[in-house]
Amino acid sequence: MARILGIGIATIDIINHVSHYPAEDEEMRALSQQQVRGGNATNTLVVLSQLQHDCHWCGVLINEADSAIVEQDLQRYHIKYQHCQRFNQGKMPTSYITLSEATGSRSIVHYRDCPELPFAHFSQLDLSGFDWLHFEGRNIDELSQMLQWVKLNYPALRCSLEVEKPREGIETLFDLADVLMFSRPYAESRGFQRADDFLHSLSYQALMTCTWGNHGAWLKQDGIVSHSPSFPPPRVVDTLGAGDTFNAGLISALVNGQPARAALEQACRLAGHKCGQAGFANLNELL
Ligand code: ADP
Ligand code: FRU
Repeated sequence: MARILGIGIATIDIINHVSHYPAEDEEMRALSQQQVRGGNATNTLVVLSQLQHDCHWCGVLINEADSAIVEQDLQRYHIKYQHCQRFNQGKMPTSYITLSEATGSRSIVHYRDCPELPFAHFSQLDLSGFDWLHFEGRNIDELSQMLQWVKLNYPALRCSLEVEKPREGIETLFDLADVLMFSRPYAESRGFQRADDFLHSLSYQALMTCTWGNHGAWLKQDGIVSHSPSFPPPRVVDTLGAGDTFNAGLISALVNGQPARAALEQACRLAGHKCGQAGFANLNELL
């Protein structure tokens, strides 16, 4: 069991389950609706916790009614959140998600009116007991200070960085992490149509992965690029958080000392399994 701190967001996900994705200007009725906790970092922690790790979250909680949804879910998965910063102003970030039963695809409209986590808060934490830090690639100026702070004060502490969206200046963080987890949208934003071409173009020291939906994921380690296929479930039910689940599978395997290629395959297996079910519960059963 490793002690892992995730730094990133929690959201309120309002998920409309629909039979098919609507056309523009169509009116349709949802089959059902759920309001649940979401957010990349906390999704990853929820999976890591089920893989028997001691998980902690550092992010922003707003003192408002919807925070209860987040807190109850974190408690359910034994994730400690005393390292969070609480604010009175704003609203928990909210995602309006259309989940198509026909394909399992998820389309997300995200709205936020919530302060980002400041470095001044992060720098107060005692990180000495942690084995791994996982950062969401957002809030670049503050995150840059956080990563530099960790390198300076805790040089042996391993850090992973999720790079999901192109954000101005995000590339300045890439030399500061031990593991870089890229997404297809990020690779495409850099002009690449293939994950392997994208990884070949990079020369950072970090171990790097790039996920590509049902095509699986690629890894670059010591200059060599390798691939794991995806592991499709009998029926694709829910791809929301597939990437967050992949990240959890990868971190878990690496922190447990597995070789990177085995970690890549485990991450794809876990993410594929998740796509066959709704939500993130019972993901420990696979392992
Ligand atoms: P995100 O949730 O960030 O959009 P991806 O769609 O790239 O993430 O998926 C992450 C990983 O999840 C992929 O590398 C793959 O292993 C797995 N995955 C995603 N979609 C499917 C699918 N339809 N079938 C099987 N595995 C999938
Ligand atoms: C899935 C997810 C959702 C959240 C959105 C935030 O990866 O974390 O739970 O609403 O992405 O961008």
